[in-house]
Amino acid sequence: MFKENDCRKCHDPLKAKAGPSLKKIAEKYKGKADGEQKVLRQMTQGPRIKLDDGKEEDHKILDTKDPKVLKNVAQWILSQ
Ligand code: HEC
Repeated sequence: MFKENDCRKCHDPLKAKAGPSLKKIAEKYKGKADGEQKVLRQMTQGPRIKLDDGKEEDHKILDTKDPKVLKNVAQWILSQ
């Protein structure tokens, strides 16, 4: 899912790219009760983001509305 949606263009498992690494995101939300909600929000609502080079755009949205799939991806990210 992550690959199919081009998320890897900006998110590497370990290295920072235009977006933070998955490991960094997982660390940020480790032990936080609302971590999954925040990650879900990022993937479903596409908030405005600032890229490394200062450009702004809307964050990419996963092309599914299936809550089970979304939850799965969120938990996968948080387990990195
Ligand atoms: C064009 C580059 C780009 C693409 C493509 C992209 N992201 Fe991001 N993403 C970012 C940036 C930049 C941030 C940091 C935004 C911020 O902190 O304001 C981010 C942050 C996140 C976060 C963390 C939010 C937080 O609260 O720290 C998650 C989760 C995430 N992206 C998931 C995804 C998923 C899933 C996809 C594929 C559907 C994706 N991203 C595709 C650039 C991208």
